[in-house]
Amino acid sequence: MTWYKVDSLSDISIPFIKKVKAGSKSICLVNFEAKLYAVSAKCPHAGADMSEGLCVRKLIVCPYHRYTYDLETGKGGEGQNDFIETYPVEIKEDGVYVGVASIWDKLKNGFK
Ligand code: FES
Repeated sequence: MTWYKVDSLSDISIPFIKKVKAGSKSICLVNFEAKLYAVSAKCPHAGADMSEGLCVRKLIVCPYHRYTYDLETGKGGEGQNDFIETYPVEIKEDGVYVGVASIWDKLKNGFK
């Protein structure tokens, strides 16, 4: 897994959704109720920019057709049968980092 610094230390008392880059990935960095989450910035339904959505009850809501995705698991709402990718987030001394697993990391974990 490769860790990318995506933001300077943010004030986590203020909620936000912002689009950041982690390597080649576009990711939504979300501060919801003083906890940071990282999810894919592209909606799997029709490609909307999830950073233009909003958060309700630990769900991110797509700005186009209001599909919802769990911020922790990425699981889509009931009846959607889809998901968005989620990424681990770490706050270090110099900023916020997001971990992105390569396809090889995912394959290796599949065999553990
Ligand atoms: S593009 Fe996101 S719900 Fe349709």
